[in-house]
Amino acid sequence: MQFKSLLLTATVGLFCKTVSADSQTGICTPTLGTPVNGFHAKFFKYIYPDYAREGSDEDYITTNYNRDDRFITEKDGITDVNFYHFYNIKPNGPTYGIVNGLNITTSNFTVEYSGWFVPTETGDHTFKIGQTDDGTSIEIYEDNYSLCCGTIVHRTLIQNLQIYDNEYVKEQSIYMEAGVPYPMKIVYFNKDAVAIQTVSFVDPSGNTHDNFEGYAKYYNDVKCKI
Ligand SMILES: *[C@@H]1O[C@H](CO)[C@@H](O)[C@H](O)[C@H]1NC(C)=O
Ligand SMILES: *[C@@H]1O[C@H](CO)[C@@H](O)[C@H](O)[C@H]1NC(C)=O
Ligand SMILES: *[C@@H]1O[C@H](CO)[C@@H](O)[C@H](O)[C@H]1NC(C)=O
Repeated sequence: MQFKSLLLTATVGLFCKTVSADSQTGICTPTLGTPVNGFHAKFFKYIYPDYAREGSDEDYITTNYNRDDRFITEKDGITDVNFYHFYNIKPNGPTYGIVNGLNITTSNFTVEYSGWFVPTETGDHTFKIGQTDDGTSIEIYEDNYSLCCGTIVHRTLIQNLQIYDNEYVKEQSIYMEAGVPYPMKIVYFNKDAVAIQTVSFVDPSGNTHDNFEGYAKYYNDVKCKI
């Protein structure tokens, strides 16, 4: 499944606009099938400074990164989305390193982690972006409707665009129910040199998690009713 292509199913979205609120929830709720553990990671190029000239960092991390002609590879089963590539940066040219087992130019790349967050406890979950270079975006959907009907979206968006010596934390709390799969996406990009991402969440009991082990799932068999 391509998370983004489902989000942008415009014809289905238009159809949903014409039906009542009650039937919207029925038609727009997908069946998910059986999940695999972890997020689905998609890696994309970042050619610096070319991509930076095309638009703002915010536009890039929100939509512009996701282009077939810039796609590198994909992987399943990712629960650790954090990395710290600060040392041994090559001054003139790409620096290679390992991200989720993939040898990539850590100095310039983009990664999208998509899937569902399945809480184990009911209550407020606080999602945080700490140190990041160049940027991190987290999107959490409080329903599945956007997967089948693009127009209905209850979304929480947290974005942090900064460089490594700024440790300003961006965070938001969301009330979530145990066992319910919430669609979620984390996008990271690095233009040049240092690559750092620091994402965590605090569960309703107050425990901080710096990876998504036991929480991230990916459903390969999402089916919409129309
Ligand atoms: C990184 O930048 C170099 C040019 O400096 C380019 O050749 C390479 O394709 C880029 N890699 C990625 C993953 O963007
Ligand atoms: C990663 O790829 C680069 C370029 O092909 C290579 O020079 C480097 O040795 C590789 N690193 C690892 C750990 O395999
Ligand atoms: C997403 O869809 C599944 C299957 O219909 C459902 O069990 C789950 O509650 C939905 N998640 C949300 C956040 O509404």
